[in-house]
This record gives sequence, C-alpha cells and structure tokens, in this order.
Amino acid sequence: MSDVTILGADRAPSPGSGLGFGIDVGGTGVKGAIVDLRTGQFVGDRHRIDTPQPATPDLIAATVAEIVEHFGWTGPVGVTLPGIVKDGVVRSAANIDPGWIGTDARAFFSGVLGGRGVAVLNDADAAGLAEQRYGGGAAVDEGLVILLTLGTGIGSALIYDGVLIPNSELGHIEVGGVIAEKRASAKVRKDRDWSYEHWAGKLSRVLTMYERLFSPDLFVVGGGISRKADKWIPYLTNEVPVVPAHLRNTAGIVGAAMAIAGDR
Ligand code: BGC
Repeated sequence: MSDVTILGADRAPSPGSGLGFGIDVGGTGVKGAIVDLRTGQFVGDRHRIDTPQPATPDLIAATVAEIVEHFGWTGPVGVTLPGIVKDGVVRSAANIDPGWIGTDARAFFSGVLGGRGVAVLNDADAAGLAEQRYGGGAAVDEGLVILLTLGTGIGSALIYDGVLIPNSELGHIEVGGVIAEKRASAKVRKDRDWSYEHWAGKLSRVLTMYERLFSPDLFVVGGGISRKADKWIPYLTNEVPVVPAHLRNTAGIVGAAMAIAGDR
C-alpha cells in the first residue's frame, strides 16, 4: 500500500489528481480500490470482503462503508451492483437480495458515506466502460461491441461507436426456452461439471442468438473464465469473433471509479 501515502494525510483526492475510487459488489465478494484514472491501474492493493448473506441493502452498504474506511478515502465513490440501475435506483435483482428492487442505491450509499457523491451502475456496464477505455485495443471504437461477463450470471455491456448503452441485460434473453444465464454462465458449467467443449456449445447458441438480434462486430468476454479462454474459444461455433477481456478482475472497480469521475 506504499503508493497510497502519496495522497496525503487524509488521503482525499486533490482536484486534478486523476485518482478515483471504485467498489465492485459481486455475488461472492465486495472489492474496492483507489484507481489512477489516467492509466486504469490500481494505486496500491485492492481490498476484498466476502459478500454478506443475505446481500441486503443494509449489509452491503455496511460492507461498502468498511472498504471506504479501510482506505481512509474521503472523496466520491463509484459502486457497481449486479442488477439494472437507472438514475441510481435498482430495478432488478436476479442474483442479489430482492430487497434491492426499488432502492435508491445512490442516495442510500451516499447517506451511509456521510453525504459524499456516489455513482451506482450495473457491474457489467462498469466492466465495459473500463475495457473500452483501458483494454488496450481489444474493444474497438467503431461498430457494436458486446462485452459479456461470465460468472454467477451473464452480464452484458453494449457499446456502440464507443458509447455505452446501459442496462442491456442480455443474460436474461431466452434462448431455446431457457434464460441465457441459466444455460451458459460459468456457474452453470461448474455446477453441472461440464467440459469446456460441452459448455462452449451452450455458449455458442447464446452468442448466435445475440448475433441474430444485434449484429455485433465483436464479443469481448470477461469474468474468471476468460483467463482460460484458450480452453474454450476454439470450440465456439458462432460467427462473430470472440476475444477475452484484457482487464481481468479489475474492470468492475475501474469502471465504477470512472463513473463517479464522470469519465465516460
Ligand atoms: C444481472 C445483471 C448482472 C449480471 C452479472 C445478472 O443476473 O441481471 O445485472 O450484470 O448478472 O453480475
């Protein structure tokens, strides 16, 4: 954490410091870090706390506050959630506590964090923003890029000519009578003990449906399973190229920090 000391005693971001703070709320872990927005790199280590169960607004907010406190961060904060977030209000909760639905998460987190500025956005949208900005060329700036995060569910970010179209929720499209994320998320593969080849067949079907609906130019795939992309990308049978995301488990945090910095 030695880098953090450059921020001064209160570790508040000075105007123009180029630093931001992001927290990524996931199904198993809540993770936060200070982000250098010029490079998309963390400043020091990230801090992770197990996602409290049940993942209610109260318990998640307490965890978010603990992470902010851990860094002594006094500036504004960006937070991701795994659901539809419109104007700070959560509109769906497939893999988190249903108590989130209708919650003004932006106001709620801000209240818990002493009234500071807070941005809240969908986790896959945050990953898409970060990948597009810092992904080193994996995401193209022209045409339609669909970034998918394959984990407990399937998250999606739709980026057209470099502009994010938020809350696309492609993981909830029905493919052959089954919700896409119940057919082909990384969790489904693990739970059913499928080989990568077998799972790639399921994912191909989902990607083919996305191709029919949106005619994308490129799929960028993130989430833990993208680290083993060489084991399953060769088995895909859909038409549009699929590349692994460049940013690994940092994308959600970086995108959250970008969102509160207005950097999108
Ligand atoms: C949620 C999305 C989220 C994705 C990945 C889905 O179940 O509906 O909002 O982006 O999981 O966490």
